[in-house]
Amino acid sequence: MSDRKILITSALPYANGPIHLGHLVEYIQTDIWSRFQKQRGNECYYICADDTHGTPIMLKADREGIKPEDLIAQVGKEHLADFIEFGIEFDNYHSTHSEENKHFSSLIYERLRDDGHISSRSITQAYDPVKEMFLPDRFIKGDCPKCNAKDQYGDSCEACGATYSPTELKNAISAISGEKPIEKDSVHYFFKLADFNTMLKEWTTSEGHLQPEVSNKLAEWLENGLQDWDISRDAPYFGFEIPDAPGKYFYVWLDAPVGYMASFKNLCTKTDLDFDEFWAPDSKTELYHFIGKDIIYFHALFWPAMLHGAKFRTPSAVFAHGFLTVNGEKMSKSRGTFIKARTYLDHLDPEYLRYYFAAKLSAGVDDIDLSFEDFTQRVNSDLVGKVVNIASRCSGFIKKRFDGQLSTQCAAPELFQQFTLVSENIAALYEAREYGKAMREIMALADKANQYIDEKKPWLIAKEEGKDQELHEICSMGINLFRLLVAYLKPVLPKLAAESEDFLNIESQPWPTNAQPLVAHEIKAFKALMTRIEEPKIAAIIEESKENLEKIVAPAAKKFDPIADEIEFDDFAKIDLRIAKIVKAEHVKGADKLLQLTVDIGDETRNVFAGIKSAYKPEDLEGKLTVVVANLKPRKMKFGMSEGMVLAAGPGGADLWVLHPDDGAIAGMRVK
Ligand code: MSP
Ligand code: ZN
Repeated sequence: MSDRKILITSALPYANGPIHLGHLVEYIQTDIWSRFQKQRGNECYYICADDTHGTPIMLKADREGIKPEDLIAQVGKEHLADFIEFGIEFDNYHSTHSEENKHFSSLIYERLRDDGHISSRSITQAYDPVKEMFLPDRFIKGDCPKCNAKDQYGDSCEACGATYSPTELKNAISAISGEKPIEKDSVHYFFKLADFNTMLKEWTTSEGHLQPEVSNKLAEWLENGLQDWDISRDAPYFGFEIPDAPGKYFYVWLDAPVGYMASFKNLCTKTDLDFDEFWAPDSKTELYHFIGKDIIYFHALFWPAMLHGAKFRTPSAVFAHGFLTVNGEKMSKSRGTFIKARTYLDHLDPEYLRYYFAAKLSAGVDDIDLSFEDFTQRVNSDLVGKVVNIASRCSGFIKKRFDGQLSTQCAAPELFQQFTLVSENIAALYEAREYGKAMREIMALADKANQYIDEKKPWLIAKEEGKDQELHEICSMGINLFRLLVAYLKPVLPKLAAESEDFLNIESQPWPTNAQPLVAHEIKAFKALMTRIEEPKIAAIIEESKENLEKIVAPAAKKFDPIADEIEFDDFAKIDLRIAKIVKAEHVKGADKLLQLTVDIGDETRNVFAGIKSAYKPEDLEGKLTVVVANLKPRKMKFGMSEGMVLAAGPGGADLWVLHPDDGAIAGMRVK
């Protein structure tokens, strides 16, 4: 039907955390486009991978006492499971920690180097003398040089918004070891982006490559001149070693976009697809990258320059979207609006969210807001109240009175034609990523279908003598209109579409160009295709997403007020402090701060959750002694019952001490 060959990507999610609703804006947006292209008969591949390299992932694995390879394998599995349940249908999901990626990253680097686009020089950076590693800006903390706010990152201040270099921070410490960083020199490799100035000016302004607002933003950056891009990092680093530079690794952002090629190459080895047909400089195929607006610089400057310099094709377009806010605010862990994909899946149908995001998405880069009230109202009124309702209003009569058979002729051909005439309009809206407008068009059709049924009143006709044929034709018409609505919604609601196709007893529907009504056709019994969103489920999601860290970890040290804060000796005497032996210490699945301890307090063992993961690895705790409050009333926590409290001292983070010096103490010993 069509000779378009299309390769589509979403940005590769970092393998250091779970998929959340913010990510899903992108994966749902891309998946809708991919499904739409396939439904139109185009040859289309949607690929992605986990982005697995870099310092945060290396350190996270280190904290959990596992190898980075094991961490990324585990997280990759979780990501893919979340995506699959949200109906995100990748043609391939791979990893940047793969042979294919190593091959292409090295190849691109070597081609750039051989053409003189790589330089090297020594630079000075902050270095952690204890951990023996260079510190990325985010891993240096200190006081803001502008406003003196404490505990700010090395690149910017969250209190006053100032940006600066880590050397300007006052009282700087390494967030990893707590030690004062020193300055150290080392040789770095740079990609000479300025070599591609002309090419990039041309590429970023050519029709169709970028959204106008993105293209304008880039023009400003290009005006200011392009800097060399530092593409190397020193060991220890989790990534690929640079071919001609032992001990130097590719910076994660060099091999991340190459992951798009690697994932496609991996698909080629499993199928008979031709890699070069898609990536050679003269490729006739189309290549689209869907990304968030935070990573435009990488995709619209570095990536096209790398591809061009290494003699591969450049993207047909890069599509950026805005950020998700929840109830008008940035997603927040304390408000319970930082919602993991998994938490949502535990309570609600993923298709609700797919529809809501579709209804809110446009081709622009504006942020989109998930308002729970609006979400509930739209899904209930559009999908349940309008679309599914048409089928449920008509199918009962077809089943009971006409043996499941649709009538032999179409009652209102003009109305059916109205529904098919807009098919190209709706397709054009999907193609242009104007999903919100597409949803409004489709819902306007649903309104028409419901009006038709309201006017004809089949429930009254059904009671009249001799009106069987009329009843039959009206209800069959309703079913036929429903069928077209479902075809139009199919990229957004694949599960509803599949279940409807089963109910309608038809093959998987292509895009309804020139669709003809189904006549004299047997349908199956109707079963509820979608139910209303119940508000308590949303409340449960928010509740579960709240991280009550302050209740778990001791509150931040506050100034001691000798009068108000004094306690009587009797108060103190009530506390049963014991030396406890840590018999078992384990990670708690899904908890960022907690460890689960089994402690022997002399006469029994207890299960205790302690917010000390930032400071201890479980295996370092087993067999050690600590002090616990043994008579604290048990508390039910999200992860289970906590039957006591481990006493900790210190400001928090890596500086948290719970161990008792071993000299002569015995588990169960009272401390006072
Ligand atoms: N690993 C990089 C991308 C490498 S692509 C070669 C990365 N990962 S990410 O996990 O942080 O984000 C993945 C995608 O999700 C990005 O496009 C990002 O913009 C998008 N989003 C992450 N949080 C988001 C919101 N809150 N809202 C909308 N999109 C968001 O960046
Ligand atoms: Zn500041």
